[in-house]
Amino acid sequence: MKATIACLPGDGIGPEVIEATQTVLKAVAEAYGHSFEMENYPIGGIAIDQFQNPLPDSTLEACQNADAVLLGAVGGPKWDAPDAPMRPEQGLLAIRKGLGVYANLRPVKPHPRLLHASPLKAEKIAEVDLIFVRELTSGIYFGQPKKRWVEEGEERAVDTLAYREGEVRRIAHLAFQLASQRKCKVTSIDKANILETSRLWRKVVSEVAKEYPDVTLEHLLVDAAAMYLLQRPASFDVLVTENMFGDILTDEASMLTGSMGNMASASLGDYQNQHGKPRGLYEPIHGSAPDIAGKGIANPVGTILSAALLLRYSLGLEQEAQAIERAVDETLSLGILSPDLGGSANTAAMTRVIIERLAAATVPA
Ligand code: NAD
Ligand code: IPM
Ligand code: MN
Repeated sequence: MKATIACLPGDGIGPEVIEATQTVLKAVAEAYGHSFEMENYPIGGIAIDQFQNPLPDSTLEACQNADAVLLGAVGGPKWDAPDAPMRPEQGLLAIRKGLGVYANLRPVKPHPRLLHASPLKAEKIAEVDLIFVRELTSGIYFGQPKKRWVEEGEERAVDTLAYREGEVRRIAHLAFQLASQRKCKVTSIDKANILETSRLWRKVVSEVAKEYPDVTLEHLLVDAAAMYLLQRPASFDVLVTENMFGDILTDEASMLTGSMGNMASASLGDYQNQHGKPRGLYEPIHGSAPDIAGKGIANPVGTILSAALLLRYSLGLEQEAQAIERAVDETLSLGILSPDLGGSANTAAMTRVIIERLAAATVPA
């Protein structure tokens, strides 16, 4: 297969984990006889520095023309001033919106070797296998008005939390379809005791549920959900929620796996690529980690597993996706762990072993 993967390294550890992942993708291409054209484009802080724009038109265009997009992370202290006219994170929101990827899938499945890297008790998390479906292109991240101004001598600010029925309906369908291929349970998370958007969310999700009689639906308020994620994490299957709740709860859930560095994501929408598959955006859930950037010790697993999701969802290369997942599994089983996982392997060493495990398992094409 010939495929174009637009790569957006971004800032901080973004370029480090993207470079590692590109070497893994090259190894896959070689082993299975594919050709992946991977070109880097600027986004985030580096794009502000070079183009005064966190998402240059040329980057968006390249992504829209690609079969899939692989992104590292954006942001950092250099661009963090509260009064900065432009922010790296705007680039991230714009690429998500520009690609129409409204469904952000974030799987959480702790590796047996990492049960003790989690602050939770091993027996609580051993059976965890859940996936978040986070709404990604609406809600309080995008609602208008969103502004700061001075009135009566006082600074004020407003963000707007808004949802349309159709935005809830399409993501609810995706969650139920996913659940029907898994453990047949959907947990919908909202704040319906307070928020009007949440009452709309709950009503629409309940309606959609009627079309999936084999799937059990549970509604949770977001504050309680944050607690149940720690108390009974193994009880969950698919968790569907709005943009900001999903952002917060998935960082919490990442600790079930031992580190945020392990967490992959796939963002999908309705656009198809030349292979008739969704043209997705794939990124780890972590940020640019300014505290460790430049040290070469970032955990590349979240990005490498995002690349596996890319092969699965955007290119239909299931065997290759599983090969990457198996190689990562084996590497962790061997105890090749980055510092965030309690080990001392650096990014390059971890990546090297992952590629070795890939090669060991591959039947030549
Ligand atoms: P962060 O995810 O960058 O880091 C939080 C902690 O996790 C840090 O201690 C970091 O060292 C550690 N960590 C994260 N990824 C790791 C990895 N792969 N390996 C090892 N350790 C890892 O979150 P933050 O510090 O709150 O944010 C820093 C910047 O990143 C901010 O500018 C923020 O806006 C941005 N950010 C970007 C994205 C993205 O691009 N998708 C996501 C989250 C945060
Ligand atoms: C994430 C990040 C982003 C988000 C930020 C950097 C805009 O935290 O991907 O989880 O909030 O969506
Ligand atoms: Mn986040």
